[in-house]
Amino acid sequence: MKLTFSKNLDYSQENDISSLINEFKEHKRYDFVRELKNEELLKSVKDVYKKYQHFKSFAQIGIGGSSLGPEMLISALAKNDVQFTFFNNIDADDTYSKLNKLNIRDTLFYVVSKSGGTAETMATFSIITNELLKSGVKEQDLKDHIVFATDPKESSLLKLGSELGITCLDIPPFVGGRYSVLTPVGTLPALFAGIDIELMLSSAYEYGINNFDSDDFKNTCRSVLSAYEDGINETVLMPYSSKLRDLSFWFVQLWAESLGKKKDGKRIGLTPVPSYGATDQHSQMQLFMEGPLNKLMLLIHVQNTENDFSLKNSFNHSRLKMLSEYSLKELMDAEFFGTLKALDEQGVPYINLSIESVNEKSLGQIIVYFELLTSITGLALGIDPFDQPGVEAGKIYSFEWLEKLK
Ligand code: PA5
Repeated sequence: MKLTFSKNLDYSQENDISSLINEFKEHKRYDFVRELKNEELLKSVKDVYKKYQHFKSFAQIGIGGSSLGPEMLISALAKNDVQFTFFNNIDADDTYSKLNKLNIRDTLFYVVSKSGGTAETMATFSIITNELLKSGVKEQDLKDHIVFATDPKESSLLKLGSELGITCLDIPPFVGGRYSVLTPVGTLPALFAGIDIELMLSSAYEYGINNFDSDDFKNTCRSVLSAYEDGINETVLMPYSSKLRDLSFWFVQLWAESLGKKKDGKRIGLTPVPSYGATDQHSQMQLFMEGPLNKLMLLIHVQNTENDFSLKNSFNHSRLKMLSEYSLKELMDAEFFGTLKALDEQGVPYINLSIESVNEKSLGQIIVYFELLTSITGLALGIDPFDQPGVEAGKIYSFEWLEKLK
């Protein structure tokens, strides 16, 4: 992964990024890097995969960090025709249509909840269990169709798992939901998708250990922070790749839930904006170019795609001949580099992450790069990037509402 910074970004400021990085290496929350090397955890996931690999349909039940990361891995890297379904919302029509497309007895259901009690996940789990029982699966055989992943110490899912004999994979205690994609939350579905998880974990670990102190990484932190001081409080993630489209949605949760906080009564936050090129050049780009100068663009350029198409053709029509000397990938590159030049002209700040191709190695690095960037940015702003107190009130009021329905 190679980084370039637009000229108008200021990373010259002497600040305490290096000491924050050193302190964070001792922090329990750095476990999202340390746990990448947890051989026992890796073995437990591989063992579960071996036991259930006959399933050609895999359905993950989870929300937020228990779904967005796996969705990103599957859309970027899936290599086989295993059918994936993500029950990631409690929309009744969506649940109905997803269930309708499944052969319920031939599907492995992976119920993921770090806390073990998230209402949305439990609601869908109860529907699925009911459907399995209705299809003739006996209660004592539910364990042949369901796997859990949850906190190994404090979780009601853990208790239920032991009551029903359902295999429970561990989500390491200090790895929170939105930082958990490279734990069993994401590695089990990745194995079903034929993804080389050892390569992904080792490249992520390598980045998290060796590149954490690099100038590139520190300059990213400094750029984000000094831009924020100058009122640049929106962060656009725009990979020029359809395969990386879901990376933007994963990033949205990571960035928003970690960095939008109250500090001493003051509201702090960097608003993430999901986007992908070239498609969003015909949607949001006008705003990015000429709208308020309050956005930092994080662009991702993919140097090589697996496939390409020549735009040569036998039509004798000027509109179709216009591009015939080029390939589809060359057109994508032209749009990417053309956009960079236009952003320079408009004075819109950007950081460009260039990767060789979308693969296990590059995705592992990108994931850890963003997780570390989020952590250090939050700590530098003096907030806790690992909690989410602001969502609690809404949860309490939802249950109050339900009580009234009784
Ligand atoms: O990042 C977080 O901790 C949260 O957004 C969770 O991912 C989300 O609330 C789902 O929680 P759980 O995995 O406990 O069901």
